Amino acid sequence: MGAQTSITTSVYAGLADAPVIVTGGGGGIGAAFVEAFARQGAKVAFVDIDPDGSAKLAERLSDAAYRPIYRIFDLKHADGVPDLMADLISELGGLSVLVNNAGYDERHAIEDVTPKLWRDLLAVNLDHHFFCTQAAVPALAARGGSIVNMSSIAWRLGMGGMSAYVTAKAGIEGLTRGLARELGPKGIRVNCVLPGAVRTARQVEKWLTPEAEREISQGQSLVGWVHPEDVTGIVMFLASNDAKMITSQTFVVDGGWL
Ligand SMILES: NC(=O)c1ccc[n+]([C@@H]2O[C@H](COP(=O)([O-])OP(=O)(O)OC[C@H]3O[C@@H](n4cnc5c(N)ncnc54)[C@H](O)[C@@H]3O)[C@@H](O)[C@H]2O)c1
Repeated sequence: MGAQTSITTSVYAGLADAPVIVTGGGGGIGAAFVEAFARQGAKVAFVDIDPDGSAKLAERLSDAAYRPIYRIFDLKHADGVPDLMADLISELGGLSVLVNNAGYDERHAIEDVTPKLWRDLLAVNLDHHFFCTQAAVPALAARGGSIVNMSSIAWRLGMGGMSAYVTAKAGIEGLTRGLARELGPKGIRVNCVLPGAVRTARQVEKWLTPEAEREISQGQSLVGWVHPEDVTGIVMFLASNDAKMITSQTFVVDGGWL
């Protein structure tokens, strides 16, 4: 499949100066979100466990209207999330957009999963979507806000070797619908994005073997790789006022694999 990249070209006036938090924003698709929001003129904060990737990203975006700020934090520690979010919201001066993006797609055979590993994998792939949202609700309600939850087509395809991950990703779609109903009256929209096989550094290093690449190219309707930049457009739109009556929805960015 030939290389094919794209950038978000639409500019949403309402995103300029908007305070935004992206979890897992120090690398992969999250870093593309941070960059896209920064290029919209938003005030972006991100959370990650990777100090090097986070520092490099903030440095690379130092010419943006607002240089992104970040905190190094392990989102598996739900008890620390309220303080983390309060700190970032205070630094940003409020919150309009929360992108719950951090995840960890480790593979595991069924027989190798201990109760502790199962808990850890759900903590890194599902729990913080809820706890970051919980901590953000008052600030989002004060302005009318947008939450985007990152799921995956992996659970819909029925991929094996990652039962905790696909369980979490299916849960995120359910969580999105429940939160959308509960938070709609507060003026907070909640939507969900399911990427397909996105060519991040981690995917290339760990999972994109020639065999996997063949499977992807046979699975997708469109020719070409899905790059992190290809997922940013839908997230900018959902964050913007153009989506003001869109909530409880799921959007797939997979080149037509389903
Ligand atoms: N890349 C894909 O093909 C793909 C496909 C479908 C869905 N997704 C979803 O998109 C989102 C982003 O995926 P990605 O491919 O960019 O992943 P990635 O592994 O490339 O990046 C994830 C980021 O989250 C950070 N992170 C991981 N664990 C963390 C923790 N405990 N606390 C704080 N930060 C943590 C990592 O350091 C990294 O910067 C995830 O929710 C993933 O499930 C990705």
